[in-house]
Amino acid sequence: MHLLKDRGFIHRTPSEITPPAVYHSRREWMQRAAALGLAPWAASGAFAQAGIPRPGKLAPLPGAKSAVAGALVMDKPTAYADVTSYNNFYEFGTDKASPAHYAGTLKTRPWTVSVEGEVKRPKVYDLEELLKLAPMEERIYRLRCVEGWSMVVPWVGYSLAELIKRVEPTGNAKFVQFTTLADKAQMPGLRASVLDWPYTEGLRLDEAMHPLALLGFGLYGEVLPNQNGAPVRMVLPWKYGFKSAKSIVKIRFVEKQPVSSWERAGPDEYGFYSNVNPQVDHPRWSQATERRIGEGEGGFSSLFTKRRPTQMFNGYEAQVGQLYAGMDLKKYF
Ligand code: MTE
Repeated sequence: MHLLKDRGFIHRTPSEITPPAVYHSRREWMQRAAALGLAPWAASGAFAQAGIPRPGKLAPLPGAKSAVAGALVMDKPTAYADVTSYNNFYEFGTDKASPAHYAGTLKTRPWTVSVEGEVKRPKVYDLEELLKLAPMEERIYRLRCVEGWSMVVPWVGYSLAELIKRVEPTGNAKFVQFTTLADKAQMPGLRASVLDWPYTEGLRLDEAMHPLALLGFGLYGEVLPNQNGAPVRMVLPWKYGFKSAKSIVKIRFVEKQPVSSWERAGPDEYGFYSNVNPQVDHPRWSQATERRIGEGEGGFSSLFTKRRPTQMFNGYEAQVGQLYAGMDLKKYF
């Protein structure tokens, strides 16, 4: 293992990006889907009808195609095998392959999410209640990691706004803070002090209310695999991946801008907003381009995969640009 480790994220050598087993299983699955005339993002029901195994072995969680503007991008979804084996989930190790290997110890039932702080109706929600709170939607989002790779994932969930409306934020609620599970017994990565645990993230209230801000419960028509943040996570397609907190246990409404874990770890490198912006470089690397996982030669991803230009707000400028009108995005990075 040859890692170039610095204060923040870890950069890997080309041969380590996609293990051959992952590449082969993906090819096999895609060939099977292609032979049956199924698009890779075909609804789980189509897989069942065709009598072929579904992308995984998890419980089905279907969603109706979302009607939210911008919620269904046309880009080709990243293969299920890649979405579920190339992850960042530091509670299970800093290596991209570690979450898939170690997140099996995460217990996702029983699970509660405490919604609290500056709200008129604070409540500890049981997961089963959250699952029924609003109709599940399928949303095909681009996800761009601050490190320079990107994916396209068919998520299942509903707008966080659905939950926010029910708890009725008070006039003092200006920001929302997300706290994720930190349990040493289930999460071996907590032994390393890479971050100040628990992992926390934050949004301005209007960002959290934006219909594209997804409270995610599944992907590819099934419940979330543990390594992708089961049983409930945020998905914010116009922000760098680290803003999308996984395995959430607390959502707190506050008056002052909260400091998130990555901001605390490196305030010059990971800003509170962290909107995808090709014009604002990370202090140690350019953010102008990205590598789409699986887009290399023969579906293999490596540091030689052709880079594609990164779009402003990750391509969601028409939908979210207004949230930042008049702001100096170099200052508020
Ligand atoms: N949430 C928690 N609790 N812990 C983490 O380490 N990593 C973040 C984010 N949410 C992380 C997290 C980062 S850096 C990214 S890029 C995305 O999750 C990755 O999500 P994915 O593995 O589903 O692609």
